[in-house]
Amino acid sequence: MASELKFLLNDTEIRLTEVGASDTLLDFIRLNRRMHGTKEGCAEGDCGACTVLVGRLHDGALRYEPINACIRFLATCHGCHVVTVEHLRGTNGGLHPVQQAMIEQHGSQCGFCTPGFVMSLYGLWMQNARPSVVEIETALQGNLCRCTGYEPIVKAALAAAEAGGQAMDALARERDSVTAFLTAIPRERVETARGDERAILPADAADLAAVLAENPKATIIAGATDVGLWVTKMMRKISPAVFIGHLADLKGITRDADGYTIGAGVTYSEFEPHIAADFPQVLDYWQRIAGWQVRNAGTIGGNVANGSPIGETPPLLIALGGTVTLRSTAGRRDVALQDYFIEYGKQDRNPGEFVESIRIPLPQTDLIAAYKVSKRAHSDITATAAAFRIRVDGGVIRDARLAYGGMAGTPKRASGAEAALIGQPFTRATFEAAAIAAESDFQPLSDWRASADYRRRLAGNLIRRFWLEQAGGTHRLDRAV
Ligand SMILES: Cc1cc2nc3c(=O)[nH]c(=O)nc-3n(C[C@H](O)[C@H](O)[C@H](O)COP(=O)(O)OP(=O)(O)OC[C@H]3O[C@@H](n4cnc5c(N)ncnc54)[C@H](O)[C@@H]3O)c2cc1C
Ligand code: FES
Ligand code: FES
Repeated sequence: MASELKFLLNDTEIRLTEVGASDTLLDFIRLNRRMHGTKEGCAEGDCGACTVLVGRLHDGALRYEPINACIRFLATCHGCHVVTVEHLRGTNGGLHPVQQAMIEQHGSQCGFCTPGFVMSLYGLWMQNARPSVVEIETALQGNLCRCTGYEPIVKAALAAAEAGGQAMDALARERDSVTAFLTAIPRERVETARGDERAILPADAADLAAVLAENPKATIIAGATDVGLWVTKMMRKISPAVFIGHLADLKGITRDADGYTIGAGVTYSEFEPHIAADFPQVLDYWQRIAGWQVRNAGTIGGNVANGSPIGETPPLLIALGGTVTLRSTAGRRDVALQDYFIEYGKQDRNPGEFVESIRIPLPQTDLIAAYKVSKRAHSDITATAAAFRIRVDGGVIRDARLAYGGMAGTPKRASGAEAALIGQPFTRATFEAAAIAAESDFQPLSDWRASADYRRRLAGNLIRRFWLEQAGGTHRLDRAV
């Protein structure tokens, strides 16, 4: 077992032994290294002022992604290349093409948000040489600007793409040496401490099971997009913290003829190409989860394990008929996702167990859809989410799975609405009956996101919307009916 964290910060090698569970990357950058280009705005992953790039090896290949340094724990930088705005430079040592474009397109006024925007645009520029306006907007979902307005920033992204130069960029030139540095870091358990605050990085999934057996009350942390806020907003103690976001054996994505097995540590961004390929009907839903930085860090396993009644993936995974595999030193067990959520704050997971993977069947010819209703289109918390999977054969509905979030203490199926659909003809009248039934399926709460009455009406109206979309989209009907 090692007791030292090793990573690269721009072009400096960092070695640290005194790191506690809740030390954040942003504090390290700003307070310890005195690098003030990276800003702190909200400290909860919402504004993007703290955006940095984190490079990590994926199957031996180095990949950089923008993330929020405010909710990223320092210990998770072990084995990474952290790139801040100070690292940006043009080939002649002047401004980087992205920075130059921001100036020329008037993309900055007070400038507080600007380094964060520049880092998101830099991440996009490196990944996508010719982004469309929609792709630029998607990349900027997690960055907030209060003064400039977004049009000049989008224009800056287009101008930076026009300027090009990726092959000559510092990150391209350093790729081989960074890869060699990261590859040389051994895969072993690392444990550091500051005072009585312990941070543990297991070597692999088997080691994670061992660590949890030794520390059954430890806090498991994957992408930290929930747990980060426990620290920055609620000042909660999370020690001992077991970090799992780096574990390659929780990042597998395998597809067979029947479906996908998704490692619990797979992030939203990592699974997005598979959503686009096999579940294109819900790509928009997927891209409305948080913003790009959070989707680069947040994991599907974390969204399931947190047991939140308003998490976006559980309704979808339940509608698709998903199961979760739990693992501990005692072995593995599979639980249907709909049974995993027992009641608010309680899941079918024992101390020492962790979510290892999630299995979802392919929809085949089923009709599927997922809806998120929130006050803002992007980077907002759900009032109600719903996902539907309907199997139609010979004009008759043979199976229906309708799962909702935000309607009860857990994500839940609408059993009355499902009963109103199954065995009935695929007609407007059937869906109208299901919509009415759905309104009695739940006793939702009123909160600042939505009233109980609004939520109840939504439950029915989303079914009406589904019918209208499916009835209008004849290509889907032709395929399935
Ligand atoms: C700005 C912002 C916007 C957001 N928007 C959305 C949104 O639109 N929709 C949405 O659904 N969520 C949203 N979230 C919440 C969050 O991003 C998701 O819940 C995310 O999937 C959590 O994953 P994580 O890996 O970051 O989990 P963590 O924060 O690392 O952990 C979350 C919980 O799961 C546990 N855990 C994590 N992995 C495992 C595992 N493998 N086994 C057992 N326990 C585990 C942790 O102990 C903790 O209790 C948002 C968060 C932020 C900061
Ligand atoms: S400071 Fe706002 S996202 Fe980090
Ligand atoms: S320029 Fe002031 S917040 Fe964006």
